[in-house]
Amino acid sequence: MEIKGERVTIRNLRLEDVFEMRKWGYHDNPLLEDYNFPHMSDKEIRLWYRMKVNNLFNKYFGIRNENDELIGYMGIKGIKILRRESTLGIVLDPNHINKGYGTEILDTFLRHYFTKMKMRKMILEVAEFNKRAYRVYEKMGFQPAGYYLDEFFNQGLDLTNPHYLAEKSSFVIDGEKIYNYIYKMTLHKRRFFQMRG
Ligand SMILES: CC(C)(COP(=O)(O)OP(=O)(O)OC[C@H]1O[C@@H](n2cnc3c(N)ncnc32)[C@H](O)[C@@H]1OP(=O)(O)O)[C@@H](O)C(=O)NCCC(=O)NCCS
Repeated sequence: MEIKGERVTIRNLRLEDVFEMRKWGYHDNPLLEDYNFPHMSDKEIRLWYRMKVNNLFNKYFGIRNENDELIGYMGIKGIKILRRESTLGIVLDPNHINKGYGTEILDTFLRHYFTKMKMRKMILEVAEFNKRAYRVYEKMGFQPAGYYLDEFFNQGLDLTNPHYLAEKSSFVIDGEKIYNYIYKMTLHKRRFFQMRG
């Protein structure tokens, strides 16, 4: 399968794509550390790839730009064949964020998802501090359907870091533990086409 946008090409994830992710940049923002591609041996990369693709209910895609560089990957997880819904995940190379690719990728993919794949609904979860991701989802028509606190992935976060201080209102510190607010968002087919035309 291959889906083409103006600048991007989205196709089933390949092992060679994962090896290319080793060349990616990294986020200085410690809140986004979880999205830095981890250091892995060749063996670990093969295992990571197999874990992603060997699941009937998940589908992963590699995303290339106009220069044929691998700029990101995305997945739809927990695919429900009868309910025709799934949960989105997307991660771009930190060197390629804020260039409009995320918007183009999701617009292109969602058209395919709601027509060719005949899906009806998409679900996702996004941290409240992740304003850029939230903005892109909002542009697609996603609407909040839930709001809850979860344990932050890094309990050792430096609470004097300016990135944390700027987003402090999205966190709760309860005794020793660090929690952050998460939005669950949903998008229905009709709303997507109303928003995007
Ligand atoms: C989230 C992600 C996929 C978005 O893709 P992208 O290519 O960076 O996004 P785009 O450039 O298409 O659009 C970014 C939008 O957010 C806005 N934005 C950027 N930084 C922002 C901030 N700090 N606050 C509010 N809005 C912001 C931009 O202005 C733009 O909106 P606009 O088109 O209305 O001007 C990408 O940044 C990424 O992979 N981030 C790291 C991993 C991640 O967070 N994944 C999502 C987890 S839920």
